[in-house]
Amino acid sequence: MMKPIEGFSKLTKIDKIKLIANNYTADPEAAIKLLEQYWHEDEKLQKLHDEFIENTLSNFFLPLGIAPNFLINDNLYAIPMAIEESSVVAAASKAAKFWLKRGGFKTTILGTEKIGQVHFMYTGPVEKLNTFFEKIKPTLLEEAKHLTRNMEKRGGGVSNIELRDKTQDLANYYQLHCTFETKDAMGANFINSCLEQFATTFKEEAQNYDGFTHEEKEIEIVMSILSNYVPNCLVRAEVSCPIEQLEIKGAITAQQFAEKMVRAITIAKIEPHRAVTHNKGIMNGIDAVVIATGNDFRAIEAGVHAHAAKDGLYKSLTHATIENGIFKFWIEVPLALGTVGGLTRLHPLVKLALEILQKPSAEELMQIVAVAGLAQNFAAVSSLVTTGIQEGHMKMHLMNILNQLGANENEKKIIVNHFKENKVTHSDVVAQFESLKNN
Ligand code: MEV
Repeated sequence: MMKPIEGFSKLTKIDKIKLIANNYTADPEAAIKLLEQYWHEDEKLQKLHDEFIENTLSNFFLPLGIAPNFLINDNLYAIPMAIEESSVVAAASKAAKFWLKRGGFKTTILGTEKIGQVHFMYTGPVEKLNTFFEKIKPTLLEEAKHLTRNMEKRGGGVSNIELRDKTQDLANYYQLHCTFETKDAMGANFINSCLEQFATTFKEEAQNYDGFTHEEKEIEIVMSILSNYVPNCLVRAEVSCPIEQLEIKGAITAQQFAEKMVRAITIAKIEPHRAVTHNKGIMNGIDAVVIATGNDFRAIEAGVHAHAAKDGLYKSLTHATIENGIFKFWIEVPLALGTVGGLTRLHPLVKLALEILQKPSAEELMQIVAVAGLAQNFAAVSSLVTTGIQEGHMKMHLMNILNQLGANENEKKIIVNHFKENKVTHSDVVAQFESLKNN
């Protein structure tokens, strides 16, 4: 068994690489070479990447693709997507083109409120705590002024602090439930700094409050942290058209297609196994744009899935109806995104992605990301209810199989050509490859 490593973070990058390669890989020389191959030749750029995180050994590439032709509120966008899964970008592009001819996507911001909480324990009567809180609320805001001043100049800041009694769920447990507007910033650092200041002020004021007994003064701050569940930082994206415009290639009519789409969405509303996969397809689109624009996709994932489960049952994030001959398909999704600060200022490709998106505000980016999710879901579900997913997916995945097999450019060309007319399955690709090799 390996011994624990002491002082790893203090080693130089090359010593870290050697230590890991020598102790954890079968061929240390090859491992070192591989890690170095992925370094950027521009040392300044590499240093920038090294300093994004800790103990950096190398870079881990994701393809950056682009899905053009997204008409959103009458503006045309080409959407950058960072994702490793084949067929996602193609599906987004296909859905964009489909809706381009049918009026495009319409979006609305339903709210931009962010949330953070100070979790604390208090042992006295709730009435006393309420009186104390009302008295010191202005002080909480005042003492955080040094943190909020700049955000206020940009039109944001702390919108409210509320005392919440959670003692029904856990004895002596209360919260300062705080709401914020952070404009174009995602705002995590701003919110967490404000919360920690609120916690400090709250504790200090309690110590000096004459209305508390000695024991009541000893408020225990458990933690102060933003919440990634932001039900009021919500965006809606929608497409609609008369049913007869839903004609798609294949055996079913526009009416049948519309009905099947609605049925598929209904299934994802009542059946969590399907809902999770349905929403995973939506996140293919959402995450890819969130990553390309330098936002925190784990935060988005956590918040979106909490939203999907808000009624106590995990459900589809998208909705579909047929009313008066009109097919309507929409998504409502919480997205706390930023277009300033963090990686947006540091990562050259993130800067470029935002430029391609016409330097959006955070609200505009929320709309673009929601559209990417809706488009992805439309593409996936329309394939599922017609041809099945594998036909399109395997066509896109063909190149990955050929690369795994080590096919050369000529072999790839011949085999891709063969599968233009034939259904792609893994075993058929292997058979084609082997027969080509043996001839
Ligand atoms: C695959 O990455 C995503 C899908 O499974 C989504 C869905 O089933 O709706 C195709």
